[in-house]
Amino acid sequence: MRPQPFYRLSYENRRQRLATRSHLTRAQLATIAAHRATADEDLIENYLTTYGLPEGVAVNLRVDGHDLAVPMVTEEPSVIAAASNGGRLLTSPQGITTTITQRELMGQIVFHHVADPDALAQWLLANQQRLLKVADAAHPSLLTHGGGARSIRVRQLPPDWVSLDLFIDVGEAMGANLVNTLTEAVAADIKLHRDEDILMSILSNYATHSLVTARCQVPVDQLKTKAIDGATVAQRIAAASDFAQVDPYRAVTHNKGIMNGIDAVVLAMGNDWRAVESGVHAYASRNGHYQGVSRWWVADGQLHGELTVPLALGFVGGATRVLPLVKVNQQLAQVTNARQLMGVTAAVGLAQNVAALRALVTDGIQRGHMSLQRKSLALSVGATPAELPAVVQRLAAITQPTMAQATAALQAVRQANLKK
Ligand code: MEV
Repeated sequence: MRPQPFYRLSYENRRQRLATRSHLTRAQLATIAAHRATADEDLIENYLTTYGLPEGVAVNLRVDGHDLAVPMVTEEPSVIAAASNGGRLLTSPQGITTTITQRELMGQIVFHHVADPDALAQWLLANQQRLLKVADAAHPSLLTHGGGARSIRVRQLPPDWVSLDLFIDVGEAMGANLVNTLTEAVAADIKLHRDEDILMSILSNYATHSLVTARCQVPVDQLKTKAIDGATVAQRIAAASDFAQVDPYRAVTHNKGIMNGIDAVVLAMGNDWRAVESGVHAYASRNGHYQGVSRWWVADGQLHGELTVPLALGFVGGATRVLPLVKVNQQLAQVTNARQLMGVTAAVGLAQNVAALRALVTDGIQRGHMSLQRKSLALSVGATPAELPAVVQRLAAITQPTMAQATAALQAVRQANLKK
Protein backbone atom coordinates (compact mmCIF):
# COMPACT_ATOMS: atom_id res chain seq x y z
CA MET A 1 0.00 0.00 0.00
CA ARG A 2 1.33 3.47 -0.85
CA PRO A 3 1.96 5.73 2.16
CA GLN A 4 -0.61 8.46 2.73
CA PRO A 5 0.30 11.73 1.02
CA PHE A 6 1.97 14.08 3.44
CA TYR A 7 -0.79 16.67 3.32
CA ARG A 8 -3.39 14.08 4.41
CA LEU A 9 -1.53 13.17 7.60
CA SER A 10 -2.77 14.47 10.93
CA TYR A 11 -0.70 17.22 12.48
CA GLU A 12 0.89 14.80 14.95
CA ASN A 13 1.76 12.25 12.30
CA ARG A 14 3.21 14.88 10.04
CA ARG A 15 5.43 16.14 12.82
CA GLN A 16 6.43 12.61 13.74
CA ARG A 17 7.31 11.75 10.17
CA LEU A 18 9.53 14.83 9.89
CA ALA A 19 11.10 14.10 13.24
CA THR A 20 12.09 10.62 12.10
CA ARG A 21 13.28 11.70 8.68
CA SER A 22 15.30 14.70 9.90
CA HIS A 23 16.46 13.15 13.19
CA LEU A 24 14.97 15.98 15.22
CA THR A 25 15.91 16.07 18.86
CA ARG A 26 13.37 16.30 21.69
CA ALA A 27 14.35 19.92 22.19
CA GLN A 28 13.82 20.70 18.51
CA LEU A 29 10.39 19.05 18.61
CA ALA A 30 9.56 21.10 21.67
CA THR A 31 10.53 24.30 19.82
CA ILE A 32 8.23 23.37 16.96
CA ALA A 33 5.41 22.60 19.40
CA ALA A 34 5.95 25.78 21.36
CA HIS A 35 5.41 27.91 18.27
CA ARG A 36 2.41 25.99 16.97
CA ALA A 37 -0.58 28.31 16.51
CA THR A 38 -3.75 26.42 15.74
CA ALA A 39 -5.30 29.50 14.13
CA ASP A 40 -2.62 29.31 11.43
CA GLU A 41 -3.11 25.64 10.61
CA ASP A 42 -5.52 26.14 7.75
CA LEU A 43 -3.71 29.09 6.22
CA ILE A 44 -1.10 27.04 4.42
CA GLU A 45 -0.54 23.48 3.25
CA ASN A 46 1.47 21.05 5.43
CA TYR A 47 1.45 23.41 8.42
CA LEU A 48 4.19 22.67 10.92
CA THR A 49 4.63 25.68 13.18
CA THR A 50 4.48 29.46 13.21
CA TYR A 51 7.70 31.26 12.46
CA GLY A 52 7.46 34.58 14.30
CA LEU A 53 9.40 37.70 13.43
CA PRO A 54 9.89 40.68 15.74
CA GLU A 55 7.67 43.71 15.24
CA GLY A 56 8.64 47.20 16.35
CA VAL A 57 7.68 50.75 15.40
CA ALA A 58 9.64 53.39 13.57
CA VAL A 59 9.13 56.80 15.16
CA ASN A 60 9.94 60.42 14.21
CA LEU A 61 8.20 60.04 10.87
CA ARG A 62 6.15 62.95 9.62
CA VAL A 63 4.30 61.87 6.50
CA ASP A 64 1.87 64.16 4.68
CA GLY A 65 1.54 66.29 7.78
CA HIS A 66 0.93 63.44 10.25
CA ASP A 67 3.41 62.37 12.93
CA LEU A 68 3.39 58.61 12.79
CA ALA A 69 4.65 55.52 14.56
CA VAL A 70 4.91 52.92 11.81
CA PRO A 71 4.93 49.19 12.63
CA MET A 72 7.71 47.22 10.98
CA VAL A 73 8.38 43.49 11.00
CA THR A 74 12.01 42.57 10.51
CA GLU A 75 14.75 40.32 11.83
CA GLU A 76 17.56 42.81 11.00
CA PRO A 77 18.60 44.61 14.22
CA SER A 78 19.43 48.02 12.75
CA VAL A 79 16.43 48.53 10.45
CA ILE A 80 13.96 50.20 12.80
CA ALA A 81 16.65 52.30 14.43
CA ALA A 82 17.70 53.52 10.96
CA ALA A 83 14.12 54.30 9.88
CA SER A 84 13.54 56.33 13.06
CA ASN A 85 16.89 58.05 12.65
CA GLY A 86 16.07 58.82 9.01
CA GLY A 87 12.70 60.21 10.04
CA ARG A 88 14.40 62.52 12.51
CA LEU A 89 16.91 63.68 9.86
CA LEU A 90 14.05 64.50 7.50
CA THR A 91 12.10 66.48 10.06
CA SER A 92 10.81 69.71 8.57
CA PRO A 93 7.44 71.45 8.81
CA GLN A 94 6.18 69.43 5.87
CA GLY A 95 8.21 66.26 6.63
CA ILE A 96 7.95 63.66 3.88
CA THR A 97 5.21 64.23 1.33
CA THR A 98 3.80 61.57 -0.95
CA THR A 99 1.94 61.50 -4.26
CA ILE A 100 0.07 58.73 -6.00
CA THR A 101 -1.40 59.58 -9.37
CA GLN A 102 -3.00 56.24 -10.06
CA ARG A 103 -3.67 52.92 -8.35
CA GLU A 104 -4.54 50.24 -10.86
CA LEU A 105 -3.38 46.65 -11.15
CA MET A 106 -2.63 44.98 -14.46
CA GLY A 107 -3.72 41.57 -15.65
CA GLN A 108 -2.09 40.07 -18.68
CA ILE A 109 -3.48 37.72 -21.32
CA VAL A 110 -0.63 36.21 -23.32
CA PHE A 111 -1.21 35.00 -26.88
CA HIS A 112 1.49 33.01 -28.62
CA HIS A 113 2.09 31.74 -32.16
CA VAL A 114 -0.18 34.54 -33.33
CA ALA A 115 -0.59 34.24 -37.10
CA ASP A 116 -1.43 37.90 -37.63
CA PRO A 117 -0.46 40.02 -34.58
CA ASP A 118 -1.63 43.28 -36.22
CA ALA A 119 -5.08 41.85 -36.91
CA LEU A 120 -5.40 40.50 -33.36
CA ALA A 121 -4.27 43.84 -31.91
CA GLN A 122 -6.83 45.70 -34.01
CA TRP A 123 -9.59 43.33 -33.00
CA LEU A 124 -8.75 43.64 -29.32
CA LEU A 125 -8.69 47.44 -29.45
CA ALA A 126 -11.93 47.56 -31.44
CA ASN A 127 -13.56 45.36 -28.79
CA GLN A 128 -12.21 47.29 -25.80
CA GLN A 129 -15.59 48.35 -24.37
CA ARG A 130 -17.07 44.88 -24.65
CA LEU A 131 -14.00 43.26 -23.06
CA LEU A 132 -14.14 45.73 -20.16
CA LYS A 133 -17.80 44.83 -19.65
CA VAL A 134 -16.95 41.12 -19.66
CA ALA A 135 -14.28 41.80 -17.04
CA ASP A 136 -16.66 43.76 -14.82
CA ALA A 137 -19.34 41.09 -15.11
CA ALA A 138 -16.88 38.51 -13.73
CA HIS A 139 -16.86 40.28 -10.34
CA PRO A 140 -19.89 42.57 -10.08
CA SER A 141 -19.26 43.50 -6.42
CA LEU A 142 -16.11 45.32 -7.53
CA LEU A 143 -18.32 47.92 -9.25
CA THR A 144 -20.32 48.47 -6.07
CA HIS A 145 -17.04 49.29 -4.32
CA GLY A 146 -16.18 51.88 -6.94
CA GLY A 147 -13.66 49.70 -8.77
CA GLY A 148 -13.76 47.96 -12.12
CA ALA A 149 -11.87 47.32 -15.35
CA ARG A 150 -10.64 50.67 -16.68
CA SER A 151 -8.73 50.22 -19.92
CA ILE A 152 -6.76 47.85 -22.10
CA ARG A 153 -3.40 48.03 -23.84
CA VAL A 154 -2.08 45.74 -26.53
CA ARG A 155 1.63 45.00 -26.85
CA GLN A 156 3.19 43.02 -29.67
CA LEU A 157 6.47 41.29 -28.83
CA PRO A 158 8.69 39.53 -31.34
CA PRO A 159 8.39 37.15 -32.98
CA ASP A 160 4.67 36.40 -32.62
CA TRP A 161 3.57 37.25 -29.09
CA VAL A 162 0.73 39.55 -28.18
CA SER A 163 -0.02 40.66 -24.63
CA LEU A 164 -3.43 42.08 -23.82
CA ASP A 165 -2.96 44.18 -20.70
CA LEU A 166 -6.09 44.81 -18.67
CA PHE A 167 -5.95 47.67 -16.16
CA ILE A 168 -8.20 47.25 -13.15
CA ASP A 169 -9.10 49.49 -10.24
CA VAL A 170 -9.36 46.99 -7.39
CA GLY A 171 -10.61 49.50 -4.82
CA GLU A 172 -9.02 48.93 -1.43
CA ALA A 173 -8.19 45.28 -2.06
CA MET A 174 -4.81 43.63 -2.58
CA GLY A 175 -6.54 42.39 -5.67
CA ALA A 176 -4.38 39.56 -7.02
CA ASN A 177 -7.18 36.98 -7.07
CA LEU A 178 -9.61 39.54 -8.35
CA VAL A 179 -7.39 40.47 -11.29
CA ASN A 180 -6.81 36.81 -12.10
CA THR A 181 -10.57 36.16 -12.12
CA LEU A 182 -11.28 39.09 -14.44
CA THR A 183 -8.38 38.27 -16.72
CA GLU A 184 -9.42 34.62 -17.07
CA ALA A 185 -13.01 35.69 -17.82
CA VAL A 186 -11.82 38.00 -20.59
CA ALA A 187 -9.58 35.25 -22.02
CA ALA A 188 -12.54 32.84 -22.06
CA ASP A 189 -14.63 35.42 -23.89
CA ILE A 190 -11.93 36.04 -26.49
CA LYS A 191 -11.73 32.30 -27.16
CA LEU A 192 -15.42 32.34 -28.06
CA HIS A 193 -14.72 34.86 -30.81
CA ARG A 194 -11.25 34.11 -32.07
CA ASP A 195 -9.22 31.03 -32.78
CA GLU A 196 -6.09 32.11 -30.90
CA ASP A 197 -3.69 30.21 -28.69
CA ILE A 198 -3.81 31.83 -25.25
CA LEU A 199 -0.81 30.74 -23.23
CA MET A 200 -1.83 32.20 -19.89
CA SER A 201 -3.85 34.84 -18.06
CA ILE A 202 -2.37 36.31 -14.90
CA LEU A 203 -1.72 39.43 -12.83
CA SER A 204 1.51 41.27 -13.56
CA ASN A 205 3.49 42.22 -10.47
CA TYR A 206 5.22 44.98 -12.40
CA ALA A 207 2.87 47.56 -10.93
CA THR A 208 3.72 50.52 -13.16
CA HIS A 209 0.19 51.85 -12.72
CA SER A 210 0.52 52.00 -8.94
CA LEU A 211 3.54 54.26 -8.58
CA VAL A 212 4.08 56.20 -5.39
CA THR A 213 6.54 59.03 -4.92
CA ALA A 214 7.89 60.19 -1.55
CA ARG A 215 9.69 63.54 -1.41
CA CYS A 216 11.48 65.57 1.21
CA GLN A 217 13.61 68.62 1.55
CA VAL A 218 15.66 69.51 4.62
CA PRO A 219 18.23 72.19 5.49
CA VAL A 220 21.70 70.71 5.01
CA ASP A 221 22.71 71.79 8.51
CA GLN A 222 20.34 69.16 9.88
CA LEU A 223 22.63 66.43 8.53
CA LYS A 224 25.84 67.42 10.29
CA THR A 225 27.73 64.92 12.40
CA LYS A 226 30.13 65.57 15.28
CA ALA A 227 33.00 65.66 12.81
CA ILE A 228 31.53 66.84 9.48
CA ASP A 229 29.47 69.93 8.64
CA GLY A 230 25.99 69.52 7.17
CA ALA A 231 26.79 70.93 3.71
CA THR A 232 29.57 68.37 3.24
CA VAL A 233 27.40 65.52 4.47
CA ALA A 234 24.61 66.56 2.08
CA GLN A 235 27.04 66.72 -0.87
CA ARG A 236 28.36 63.27 -0.01
CA ILE A 237 24.81 61.84 0.23
CA ALA A 238 24.08 63.32 -3.22
CA ALA A 239 27.28 61.75 -4.55
CA ALA A 240 26.27 58.36 -3.11
CA SER A 241 22.92 58.71 -4.86
CA ASP A 242 24.66 59.60 -8.18
CA PHE A 243 26.88 56.55 -7.88
CA ALA A 244 23.81 54.32 -7.42
CA GLN A 245 22.60 55.63 -10.78
CA VAL A 246 25.70 54.50 -12.65
CA ASP A 247 26.89 51.34 -10.87
CA PRO A 248 24.49 48.39 -10.59
CA TYR A 249 26.61 46.77 -7.86
CA ARG A 250 26.05 49.77 -5.64
CA ALA A 251 22.47 50.31 -6.86
CA VAL A 252 21.42 46.87 -5.65
CA THR A 253 22.71 47.59 -2.14
CA HIS A 254 21.29 51.12 -2.20
CA ASN A 255 17.88 49.65 -3.07
CA LYS A 256 18.31 46.83 -0.57
CA GLY A 257 18.57 49.49 2.12
CA ILE A 258 15.33 51.07 0.89
CA MET A 259 13.64 47.66 0.81
CA ASN A 260 14.77 47.06 4.42
CA GLY A 261 12.15 49.65 5.30
CA ILE A 262 9.55 48.93 2.64
CA ASP A 263 9.48 45.15 3.17
CA ALA A 264 9.22 45.53 6.94
CA VAL A 265 6.12 47.73 6.59
CA VAL A 266 4.65 45.55 3.85
CA LEU A 267 5.04 42.50 6.11
CA ALA A 268 3.48 44.29 9.08
CA MET A 269 0.54 45.22 6.88
CA GLY A 270 -0.09 41.66 5.66
CA ASN A 271 0.78 42.40 2.05
CA ASP A 272 2.72 40.34 -0.48
CA TRP A 273 6.33 41.44 -0.12
CA ARG A 274 7.54 39.13 -2.92
CA ALA A 275 5.27 40.98 -5.33
CA VAL A 276 6.57 44.32 -4.09
CA GLU A 277 10.21 43.18 -4.28
CA SER A 278 9.99 41.89 -7.84
CA GLY A 279 8.07 44.97 -8.99
CA VAL A 280 10.50 47.43 -7.43
CA HIS A 281 13.56 45.73 -8.89
CA ALA A 282 11.98 45.59 -12.34
CA TYR A 283 11.23 49.31 -12.01
CA ALA A 284 14.86 49.91 -11.03
CA SER A 285 15.82 48.43 -14.42
CA ARG A 286 13.32 50.35 -16.53
CA ASN A 287 16.02 52.41 -18.27
CA GLY A 288 17.86 49.34 -19.51
CA HIS A 289 20.25 49.03 -16.57
CA TYR A 290 19.68 48.61 -12.84
CA GLN A 291 19.67 51.92 -10.91
CA GLY A 292 18.85 53.29 -7.48
CA VAL A 293 15.15 54.05 -7.11
CA SER A 294 15.81 57.17 -5.05
CA ARG A 295 17.66 60.38 -5.92
CA TRP A 296 19.27 62.92 -3.58
CA TRP A 297 20.57 66.32 -4.61
CA VAL A 298 21.54 69.63 -3.02
CA ALA A 299 19.95 72.94 -4.03
CA ASP A 300 19.41 76.24 -2.19
CA GLY A 301 21.05 75.01 1.00
CA GLN A 302 18.67 72.05 1.20
CA LEU A 303 19.07 68.34 0.67
CA HIS A 304 16.27 67.15 -1.61
CA GLY A 305 15.23 63.52 -1.80
CA GLU A 306 12.81 61.67 -4.01
CA LEU A 307 11.88 58.01 -4.20
CA THR A 308 9.49 56.50 -6.73
CA VAL A 309 8.48 52.85 -6.53
CA PRO A 310 5.61 50.66 -7.72
CA LEU A 311 3.68 49.69 -4.58
CA ALA A 312 0.34 48.05 -5.28
CA LEU A 313 -0.56 47.62 -1.62
CA GLY A 314 -3.98 46.60 -0.38
CA PHE A 315 -5.86 47.64 2.71
CA VAL A 316 -8.43 44.83 2.77
CA GLY A 317 -8.65 41.20 1.71
CA GLY A 318 -6.05 38.44 1.51
CA ALA A 319 -3.76 38.12 4.51
CA THR A 320 -4.97 41.46 5.92
CA ARG A 321 -8.13 39.57 6.87
CA VAL A 322 -6.52 36.53 8.45
CA LEU A 323 -3.46 37.84 10.27
CA PRO A 324 -4.81 39.38 13.50
CA LEU A 325 -2.05 41.97 13.89
CA VAL A 326 -2.67 43.62 10.54
CA LYS A 327 -5.72 45.62 11.68
CA VAL A 328 -3.86 46.68 14.80
CA ASN A 329 -0.89 47.75 12.68
CA GLN A 330 -3.09 49.73 10.32
CA GLN A 331 -4.44 51.59 13.30
CA LEU A 332 -0.98 52.13 14.81
CA ALA A 333 0.18 53.70 11.55
CA GLN A 334 -3.08 55.66 11.28
CA VAL A 335 -3.68 54.45 7.75
CA THR A 336 -7.29 54.13 6.72
CA ASN A 337 -6.98 53.24 3.06
CA ALA A 338 -4.67 51.71 0.48
CA ARG A 339 -3.31 54.99 -0.86
CA GLN A 340 -2.26 56.16 2.59
CA LEU A 341 -0.58 52.82 3.16
CA MET A 342 1.34 53.18 -0.10
CA GLY A 343 2.46 56.68 0.91
CA VAL A 344 3.58 55.73 4.40
CA THR A 345 5.48 52.70 3.09
CA ALA A 346 7.36 54.74 0.49
CA ALA A 347 8.12 57.40 3.14
CA VAL A 348 9.71 54.75 5.36
CA GLY A 349 11.80 53.65 2.36
CA LEU A 350 13.05 57.21 1.87
CA ALA A 351 13.85 57.67 5.58
CA GLN A 352 15.63 54.31 5.64
CA ASN A 353 17.69 55.35 2.64
CA VAL A 354 18.87 58.70 4.02
CA ALA A 355 19.87 57.11 7.32
CA ALA A 356 21.94 54.46 5.54
CA LEU A 357 23.58 56.95 3.15
CA ARG A 358 24.44 59.43 5.89
CA ALA A 359 26.06 56.69 7.96
CA LEU A 360 27.92 55.29 4.95
CA VAL A 361 29.38 58.62 3.80
CA THR A 362 30.38 59.74 7.31
CA ASP A 363 31.25 57.29 10.11
CA GLY A 364 30.62 54.10 8.13
CA ILE A 365 27.80 51.71 8.83
CA GLN A 366 29.47 49.47 11.38
CA ARG A 367 29.76 51.91 14.24
CA GLY A 368 26.00 52.37 14.59
CA HIS A 369 25.32 48.71 13.93
CA MET A 370 27.71 47.29 16.47
CA SER A 371 25.70 47.82 19.64
CA LEU A 372 22.62 46.33 17.95
CA GLN A 373 24.69 43.43 16.63
CA ARG A 374 26.09 42.77 20.10
CA LYS A 375 22.54 42.70 21.43
CA SER A 376 21.36 40.21 18.83
CA LEU A 377 24.49 38.10 19.36
CA ALA A 378 23.79 38.04 23.10
CA LEU A 379 20.18 37.00 22.45
CA SER A 380 21.28 34.33 20.00
CA VAL A 381 23.40 32.62 22.68
CA GLY A 382 20.46 32.61 25.07
CA ALA A 383 20.72 35.81 27.11
CA THR A 384 17.41 36.77 28.71
CA PRO A 385 16.22 40.39 28.51
CA ALA A 386 17.36 40.86 32.12
CA GLU A 387 20.86 39.56 31.29
CA LEU A 388 21.17 41.49 28.05
CA PRO A 389 22.68 44.81 29.25
CA ALA A 390 25.41 43.06 31.25
CA VAL A 391 26.32 40.70 28.38
CA VAL A 392 26.40 43.57 25.87
CA GLN A 393 28.59 45.55 28.24
CA ARG A 394 31.07 42.67 28.47
CA LEU A 395 31.18 42.45 24.66
CA ALA A 396 31.61 46.20 24.19
CA ALA A 397 35.39 46.06 24.26
CA ILE A 398 35.57 43.41 21.50
CA THR A 399 35.52 44.78 17.93
CA GLN A 400 34.02 41.72 16.25
CA PRO A 401 32.67 39.46 19.01
CA THR A 402 32.17 35.79 18.14
CA MET A 403 29.48 33.36 19.30
CA ALA A 404 32.06 31.73 21.58
CA GLN A 405 32.93 35.06 23.16
CA ALA A 406 29.24 35.89 23.58
CA THR A 407 28.64 32.50 25.24
CA ALA A 408 31.58 33.12 27.56
CA ALA A 409 30.26 36.59 28.40
CA LEU A 410 26.83 35.14 29.19
CA GLN A 411 28.36 32.48 31.44
CA ALA A 412 30.38 35.15 33.24
CA VAL A 413 27.25 37.25 33.78
CA ARG A 414 25.39 34.22 35.16
CA GLN A 415 28.25 33.37 37.50
CA ALA A 416 28.35 36.94 38.72
CA ASN A 417 24.59 36.90 39.28
CA LEU A 418 24.87 33.69 41.33
CA LYS A 419 27.35 35.38 43.63
CA LYS A 420 25.01 38.32 44.28
C1 MEV B 1 22.08 47.03 5.14
O1 MEV B 1 21.02 46.16 5.47
C2 MEV B 1 21.61 48.14 4.22
C3 MEV B 1 22.71 49.05 3.68
O2 MEV B 1 23.73 48.26 3.06
C4 MEV B 1 22.05 49.97 2.67
C5 MEV B 1 23.02 50.78 1.86
O3 MEV B 1 24.18 50.38 1.70
O4 MEV B 1 22.58 51.83 1.34
C6 MEV B 1 23.37 49.82 4.79
